[in-house]
Amino acid sequence: ISIIILSSIVSSCCRCTEPVPVLTVSPSWLSPGASITLSCDVIHPSAGWKFYWYKEFRTSSDNYFNTVNILPMSINGTATATITINEPSHTTGYICEAGRGDPIIYTHRSKTKFVWSADNHHSVSLKVSPGRTQHFVSDSVLLTCEGNATNSRVMFYTDYGSLYHCSTWGEENGPVCKVTDQQPVKAVFWCESELGFSNAVNITRQSKFIDGIILVSPVHPVTEGELVTIGCQMRTGHALSTVSFYKDDKLVQSDGGAEMTISTVSKSDEGFYKCQSSGKESPQSWISIKSGSTPEGSSPHILLFVGLVFGLLLIILLLVLLFCYKKSKGETFELVIIS
Ligand SMILES: *[C@@H]1O[C@H](CO)[C@@H](O)[C@H](O)[C@H]1NC(C)=O
Ligand SMILES: *[C@@H]1O[C@H](CO)[C@@H](O)[C@H](O)[C@H]1NC(C)=O
Ligand SMILES: *[C@@H]1O[C@H](CO)[C@@H](O)[C@H](O)[C@H]1NC(C)=O
Repeated sequence: ISIIILSSIVSSCCRCTEPVPVLTVSPSWLSPGASITLSCDVIHPSAGWKFYWYKEFRTSSDNYFNTVNILPMSINGTATATITINEPSHTTGYICEAGRGDPIIYTHRSKTKFVWSADNHHSVSLKVSPGRTQHFVSDSVLLTCEGNATNSRVMFYTDYGSLYHCSTWGEENGPVCKVTDQQPVKAVFWCESELGFSNAVNITRQSKFIDGIILVSPVHPVTEGELVTIGCQMRTGHALSTVSFYKDDKLVQSDGGAEMTISTVSKSDEGFYKCQSSGKESPQSWISIKSGSTPEGSSPHILLFVGLVFGLLLIILLLVLLFCYKKSKGETFELVIIS
């Protein structure tokens, strides 16, 4: 009898400790044309799991999150599965789940893992004001979901792996959220709506206890060929006299003014930037560079070509007119072509 009781305790306990699969996504930020890899691992590995993959989306009405099955997939005799999604184009939340046996018993669902897009391909976009990546906690940051969605909300995911509604850290008023919380945070912000998820931005809010400095850098990707100005600012608003700027921990401008300008950015300027001034150092922030669109790039050449042809035609016409004029006056006219 005791064996029966013991085995029933053990089996019920096994049920209450159903494994939670761990999902990993790579990379977390999308780049044009690239694919992403999702990996699902069952923590207590043993054979025979089947894996199920879901995409998170928001229904139109309330805050309720729902999921859609994206790729039912069965793999026998393993505790890990990997799938590749080709050319995803926008911010998405992914979830995985595993199951085995007949009837099938499922694990819990994994935590949602996000893949963010810095570019906006959706009808909803996120605007940040003031438009920079780093902020002092004493300054509020206004985040606005723009577009035609009727139910957009700002969400954020912190660097320590927690997902929040923007209202947790500020005042939310429909699609507008003002982050007022005094806690320092480093997080990715985006909008969710019934039309999909918007572009995402990195935001760093600097602790009020450190009388520090911040880097003033663009919050959205910069297009190749554009001019970029990076700044360095104190919380007190006092002007910084001598500032050094670093890219990927290498000095790029030493002891200059409080600004650094890159007149025509290229992909090689992409990286982590920070500034230093009188012993103080800002956090570092990523500056993202996107390629300029090709049709626009080729149009100056076409214009140049058309201009040249027109110019040449005009010169010929003028010469012919001059020739006819001189001939009508009975003068001889020689056209000398110097090759
Ligand atoms: C997995 O195993 C089941 C039965 O054990 C079998 O019916 C099924 O075809 C197998 N699936 C794959 C992908 O091997
Ligand atoms: C956010 O930061 C990550 C690196 O931490 C970077 O890969 C990504 O491109 C950044 N996103 C934007 C919009 O700058
Ligand atoms: C919003 O809807 C209008 C009319 O349907 C459309 O013209 C406009 O382009 C839409 N805006 C966005 C950002 O999708």
